[in-house]
Amino acid sequence: MLKDEVNPNLFKQVAKVSREQREALNNNRSFTLWFTGLSSSGKSTIAIELEPQLFAAGYRTYILDGDNTRLGVNNDLTFSIKDRTENMRRVAHISKLFNEAGIIVIASFISPFEKDRLAARDIIGPESFIEVFIDSSLEVCKQRDSKGLYKQALLGKIKDFTGISSPYEAPKLPDIHLHTDASSPRECVNTIINWLDANNRYKL
Ligand code: ADX
Repeated sequence: MLKDEVNPNLFKQVAKVSREQREALNNNRSFTLWFTGLSSSGKSTIAIELEPQLFAAGYRTYILDGDNTRLGVNNDLTFSIKDRTENMRRVAHISKLFNEAGIIVIASFISPFEKDRLAARDIIGPESFIEVFIDSSLEVCKQRDSKGLYKQALLGKIKDFTGISSPYEAPKLPDIHLHTDASSPRECVNTIINWLDANNRYKL
């Protein structure tokens, strides 16, 4: 039991089973692949294609997706700058908890603001945070418009829409940079898997 430095009325409890023991049981190191990119850039498509490949290789994985978490734990949040920051704070903590449970997280969020992504990196821990820029031009995303939201945003029916009426700050130095307007989802998945292999990320 450790007294908290910020709130002296809270005492951090330490479990007897460590993260390392959980990773060993799962036979993988845990980390968070943090996907950032515009709506319709391909984040969810790549996450959904990537996960079964890791799963088939015997790794424990879980996808955290913005639409899904906003339908549940974050259903009180809007798309204001303040609420997006709170969205990031919560999903970063959730990612951290999954990582502490020995699970590889694929976190798929627009996460448009550099400072919020830096905060997520701090919460998760820099050694466990892998930033993946799912990069597609705004023009291509607007053309794809897989959910029909750009059309509505351009008509002014959705406010604070990323790329239209709310900014997107591209990562300056992502760990992995995928160009989804030039590469297929399969090629993007292979790039991630090759990067993880080359950097020895899931080996204990
Ligand atoms: S984030 O900016 O806070 O990271 P998040 O990834 O959780 O966003 O949610 C984005 C999803 O919410 C989009 O894929 C889209 O389906 C939906 N959405 C609804 N309204 C907006 C909006 N104003 N801006 C961006 N996405 C929106």
